Order: sequence, then structure tokens, then C-alpha cells
Amino acid sequence: MKEMIAMTGSSKYRVYIDNNMNKFHTLFEENKIKISEKIFIFTDDLVYKLHRDIIECIKMETNCRILCIPQGEPKKNINTIEVLYDFLLENGANKNSIIIAFGGGLIGDLAGFAASTYMEGIKLINVPTTLLAQVDSCIAGKVTFNYKGIKNLIGNFYNPIYVYICTGFLKTLNNRQFKDGLGEAIKYGIIKDKELLSFLSSNYKHILERENDKLTHIVKECLRIKLEVVSEDKGLMDILNFGHNIGYGIETTSNFNISHGEAVGLGILTSLKLSENKFSISSDIYNKVESIMSKFGLPVKYKVDNYSSFMYAINHDKKNNEKIRFVLLKDIGKCEVKVEVSEKEIITALKESVSRG
Ligand SMILES: NC(=O)c1ccc[n+]([C@@H]2O[C@H](COP(=O)([O-])OP(=O)(O)OC[C@H]3O[C@@H](n4cnc5c(N)ncnc54)[C@H](O)[C@@H]3O)[C@@H](O)[C@H]2O)c1
Repeated sequence: MKEMIAMTGSSKYRVYIDNNMNKFHTLFEENKIKISEKIFIFTDDLVYKLHRDIIECIKMETNCRILCIPQGEPKKNINTIEVLYDFLLENGANKNSIIIAFGGGLIGDLAGFAASTYMEGIKLINVPTTLLAQVDSCIAGKVTFNYKGIKNLIGNFYNPIYVYICTGFLKTLNNRQFKDGLGEAIKYGIIKDKELLSFLSSNYKHILERENDKLTHIVKECLRIKLEVVSEDKGLMDILNFGHNIGYGIETTSNFNISHGEAVGLGILTSLKLSENKFSISSDIYNKVESIMSKFGLPVKYKVDNYSSFMYAINHDKKNNEKIRFVLLKDIGKCEVKVEVSEKEIITALKESVSRG
């Protein structure tokens, strides 16, 4: 089992990276968790079904209470937060209670928000089970939910006392969800680490076969980069959004037929084209990234049918003619934040990249 120390905000906590769950129970003691305290596992119905043995085993050891919520982004709302609060209250949760967020990024966000607010904050342990959650959302403490249809409108920053990552969970992900996480991993390579990008390219077959050592390397490197970025100047954190605003436009205008990770991948390609047009970076970068995405079976083309609704999706909170600020690339590992781009430049980049004929 590998260990990393995460320092985010004023918090410092351990991140364990393992490939089977054998060591999980030993961590309670190591982290001074008393199993006599009330422990709650929040998970979703699919994760519970697929990993019931492990969850029930934790229950046998700790006498914890388990709550399964239905899966899916529409459930990431205030009603579900109320369900979590009610469950805690009905089961006598107190200041010393512990929540284990056992699932993908959605469970992490909901359980994390509940932990951050119940009785002004109770202990949280993250057990991320999707690749996206393992490479990205399980650290740095962002905990949010959607409100009135606006994604992640309500949120907080709240760090776990530790994070336990088991790459073994990734074996049960369906291909599409697995690839969603790979889109984020490619982003980490582009914004900070040439070697990670080369690793993804040369090991794609083993990665797609979900070999533990390859997955462990990816998770470790992405988290290392995220920790490096979040500990730097606050303004630089924007680089974590590379490709995300175009991605959001694609996700929305496809009526969510294109998944989040697929849309981020397409957004990355468009942002690389914008970077070529703005900063004259070599087209080799675009070609390299496009080739990695193709190896992973991520889409590299997306036909935008209606450019005005696309622009509305990414720009509706801006006034007329106000330029949009983007994170663009000057070289692999070197980003420029808050670059002003016009609507025309975005549409041109789309037409020259993912939406070309
Ligand atoms: N807080 C952050 O920093 C941050 C960062 C990125 C994304 N997010 C949030 O994370 C969410 C997306 O996360 P996600 O992609 O993990 O999606 P998710 O949590 O919705 O999970 C996707 C699907 O995978 C299933 N699943 C989870 N683990 C599984 C496993 N081991 N095997 C099989 N199926 C499994 C779930 O049941 C669900 O159906 C979004 O709500 C997004 O806003 C948060």
C-alpha cells in the first residue's frame, strides 16, 4: 500500500493507495478512529450491490449504519442532503460520529457536504470508487450539490481525515465510466506533466485492461499534481479547469448524451486548438493528445449543431460582447490563466478541431 500526505488549506491528511481492501480496517486504529463511535457509510445503490461484501464486512467490524441513495446526478440535490441529515439525526449521530463517503464523486460531494455541516462538522473518511473520484475529487475538500438546476451552486470546503483509495474497485466500473476518469488523467498530464502523458500513451493497453500497477501510478501522479496545484497561488487553481468550460457546453448541448469525461476530452482538444491559434503552439501537441484519446476510445469529434445555443451554455452569465476567460496552453506543463477569448475565436477553434467536417 502506498501513502501520500495531502496538505490542502490548513488540513493535513493521509491518502492511502491500495489494490485490495485487506488493509482498510487497520486504518481506523492508525488514524485514532474509535469504532465505538457511531460510524455511517453513505453509498449509492449500485456501489452497494457491487461491493456489498466489503461494505457488510465493515459493518460487522464497526457496527456502522449504512445508507444507500439512488445513483445519478439528478439526485445531487438538497432533498438528498435532507435525507442524509435525517438519517444522521434518527440514528443519534453526534459531534464524534464519522461519515464514510463510499462511492464516486457524487457520493463524495453529498456525504462531504453533510459531514461539513452536521453539528458544525463531523469527521469524514473518503473511499472513492470511480477513477474520476480517485484521480481528482477525493482530495482538496470541495463538497457541493446542485441547486435549482445549477450545477454545484451550493458548496463548502471540508477535508477528510483520510482518504482510502483501492484500485480494485475500478474493475467493476463500466467502460464509459472508466474512460471518464481517463479524460481527467489526460488533463493532468497536459497541464503539468509531460511524462504522465507519455505514460498514458505508451501503456494504454495495460491501462484499458485495468492493471493495478498502472492504475496506481496514474492515481498517484494525478493526485500529486492536484496537490501541487492547490498548494500554489490560488489563482493558478484555475488550470484544473483546463478544457472544462467548452466541455460543459458540449455536455449540455448534447443533452448529457456525451458524458462528463468525454465532454472534458473534447473540451481539451478545442482548448488546444484555441491555444494554437492564440499562442502559435505546435500542432504536434493537439495530434499527440488526439491520438491518446483515440487509443482510449474517447471521442475526438463532436458536431455542434447550433453554435448560438452552444455559446449560451458556456456564456449565459456574461454581458453582451464581454470576452470569456479561458485557461490555455503555452506548452505541455505550462498554462496561461484568464486568457480573454472572443465568441468568434471559440467557434473558429471548434470548427477547426472537434467539429471539423
Ligand atoms: N469535489 C470535486 O472536487 C469534484 C471534482 C470532479 C467531479 N466532482 C463531482 O463528481 C461527480 C461525478 O463523479 P463520478 O464520475 O465519480 O460519478 P458518480 O459518482 O455519479 O458515479 C458514476 C456511476 O458509477 C457508479 N459507480 C461508482 N463506483 C463504482 C464502481 N466501483 N463500480 C461500478 N460502478 C460504480 C455509480 O453508482 C454511478 O452510477 C459529479 O457530481 C461532479 O460534479 C466533484
